[in-house]
Amino acid sequence: MNIPNHVAIIMDGNGRWAKAKGMPRNYGHVQGAKTVEDMCEIAWNMGIKYLTVYAFSTENWSRPDDEVNALMKLLRNYMKNCIKRASANNMRVRVIGDKTRLDEDIRKSIADLEEATKDYTGLNFTIAINYGGRDELRRAVKAISEEVKAGSLEPSDITEETIAMHLDTAGLPDPDLLIRTCGELRISNFLLWQISYSEIYVTDVPWPDFNKEELVKACEAYSGRTRKFGNVLK
Ligand code: IPE
Ligand code: IPE
Ligand code: MG
Repeated sequence: MNIPNHVAIIMDGNGRWAKAKGMPRNYGHVQGAKTVEDMCEIAWNMGIKYLTVYAFSTENWSRPDDEVNALMKLLRNYMKNCIKRASANNMRVRVIGDKTRLDEDIRKSIADLEEATKDYTGLNFTIAINYGGRDELRRAVKAISEEVKAGSLEPSDITEETIAMHLDTAGLPDPDLLIRTCGELRISNFLLWQISYSEIYVTDVPWPDFNKEELVKACEAYSGRTRKFGNVLK
């Protein structure tokens, strides 16, 4: 089987999973966070080198306040505990998205986590928080414009590489496989630039139920695809 180098996941369906069990949506988010932890280890053991997950979108702020607060609380705890797990697993953690809107203590935990794990050579684990593909492109255009204004960059020298280098994902390879759980057939503003030629796999399984068997199924489907551009399979 051809294992994708970089797998990106739109982790969807926490709310529906909880509702189906007669539980509050937040219970689904708690279970979803546990699935993330398992998946890091499973992905690495399968030979996946980069795993990128969509944890909170720029649109998710419009959810009810109590749900946003519960998600932030979960992220806060997750970031604190992640250093220990990352060290034990040699995992490098990065966060993409606009961190400026996050609370100061969460930003500090993220900075500590990124710094502490920057030399680790195991799984490259990237978490998208307050991330939107359009917002990422907006911020990149702003940064490029500032360089042009300052005279350090000529408009005629702007290449696709220039744009890629100004995105939050600078230095990361593009995803080979994009997985979305819980059935929706849309991108929801995730990695718009980077998934140009990623293979897409959608499963009806909600995120809290996603497991090794489901990841293997996604990789098997990927392995049978004929790819164009991107990392064409040999
Ligand atoms: C995904 O699950 C988690 C986040 C977007 C934070 P949802 O909360 O979107 O669950 P559904 O889609 O409503 O079931
Ligand atoms: C996408 O899920 C965002 C994350 C997984 C963080 P959503 O549930 O927010 O997306 P929509 O609303 O179905 O497009
Ligand atoms: Mg959803």
